[in-house]
Amino acid sequence: MKERKAPLYDRLIQHQKEEPISFHVPGHKFGDIFPAEGKETFQHILSIDATEVEGLDDLHAAEEVIKEAQYLASRFFGAEDTYFLVNGSTSGNIAAILAVCRPGDEVLVQRNCHKSVLHGLELAGAKPVFFTPEYETRTHRYSLIHKELIDEALEQYPNTVAVILTYPDYFGRAYPIKEVVQAIHHHGLPVIVDEAHGVHFSLGSPFPVSSLNADADLVIQSAHKTAPAMTMASYLHRKGSRIDTSRLAYYLQMLQSSSPSYPLMASLDLARLFLSTFTESDKESLLSYITAVREAFKETDYLYEVLAVDEMDDPLKITLKAKEGYTGFQIAEQLESAGIYPELATSSQVLLVAGLIPNLEIETLKKRLRGVNWRLKSCGEHGTIKIEILNYPKVQSLAVSYQEMQQETPEFVNWSHAVGRICAESVIPYPPGIPLIVKGERMTEEQVRSVQALNKQGASFHNTAIKQGTWVF
Ligand SMILES: Cc1ncc(COP(=O)(O)O)c(C=O)c1O
Repeated sequence: MKERKAPLYDRLIQHQKEEPISFHVPGHKFGDIFPAEGKETFQHILSIDATEVEGLDDLHAAEEVIKEAQYLASRFFGAEDTYFLVNGSTSGNIAAILAVCRPGDEVLVQRNCHKSVLHGLELAGAKPVFFTPEYETRTHRYSLIHKELIDEALEQYPNTVAVILTYPDYFGRAYPIKEVVQAIHHHGLPVIVDEAHGVHFSLGSPFPVSSLNADADLVIQSAHKTAPAMTMASYLHRKGSRIDTSRLAYYLQMLQSSSPSYPLMASLDLARLFLSTFTESDKESLLSYITAVREAFKETDYLYEVLAVDEMDDPLKITLKAKEGYTGFQIAEQLESAGIYPELATSSQVLLVAGLIPNLEIETLKKRLRGVNWRLKSCGEHGTIKIEILNYPKVQSLAVSYQEMQQETPEFVNWSHAVGRICAESVIPYPPGIPLIVKGERMTEEQVRSVQALNKQGASFHNTAIKQGTWVF
């Protein structure tokens, strides 16, 4: 039997048992000082909410117990270094990009990336060249990437210094990552993989191949998304010799708190322990649980279809596709009214994410699903609004560089005046946080129509002014 070792968590518990007298921050003094209203709920976690005192190491100069915990994580995931992140994959993506790209560098970027990737590119002053995955009718999304696509883009842009991939997509769609990474390495370039949704891929089949297994250079994973880690807890892994590790460490300490949360870091230590002790029999019971969840949803498929999962994809993700005349938003709303909360809805789909261990009685789920009043909200007027499939160019650079945009002052215009103008603030439905229009590109008529239709259907955007118009140069 494998040793169940979580050095950082164990050390925090030991520290707590020693009944330390705290004359240091944080001010709650291990939970002694806390509002009565929240004390009971917070107490346990506050008892390990320590700071960098003797014996507890320091994330930004790890030499002891954090170093050991990160080392165990690197061994499990197959990296040469693993860095604990306390500000999500958001900080990992930005740090990775700053470590690799210098101002003016051309970088090849998968178009359907998370906004943190765009923010990293902007901060680095890089010149993104976007490539669009192929549209797949089985997923109804731009989700397929293959080696030829990368080769074509790199031939077109021979000065590219790095490639940034998103693998898998939010819906768990994977692609032949080994071939793609090999092709990038063949061009002598480092590859950064935003694997925010794939921390569990290191468990092996039936999950997709992990990008560390495919020898990607930097891999960022939100441990909190599919492993049992606290929200914001993430990993950044490095492999191979293409990355300047001192630049990476420099940006990580710049972008993260100088008081990183010990509960978050301990949860990363424990998430690694959980994954490393996951057994074949755990996988079997998980798969039968997922099958049962899918069947339960199929029993009430009046407004949606439960999409089949390709064997290459992540089985944790279950996608409901809205039937003609309905939207994903409507379906999500109906589920929520019965206390069933999906991960996200788009105009045509609803995404459900299962955990790695069955945590729900299927009968309870069925009862809730039967309680949904599917007929009542049939075919609202918004369900009939068609969202067209946008035609993104295969490979495209920005119309205006980040440096040029910095010299300009944006103005706000109504959507009716937006076509042909340069987008000054990416238009990002949230979730999933993937830009529909990116800052620096010239807005097309179909993009504008699409945002207006999404607005009518009730999509949420981080920028609430999106209902009226947008910022342009
Ligand atoms: C593809 C992708 N990358 C990065 C992130 C950011 O991750 P985090 O929430 O851990 O900062 C997200 C969040 O949803 C995401 O979907």
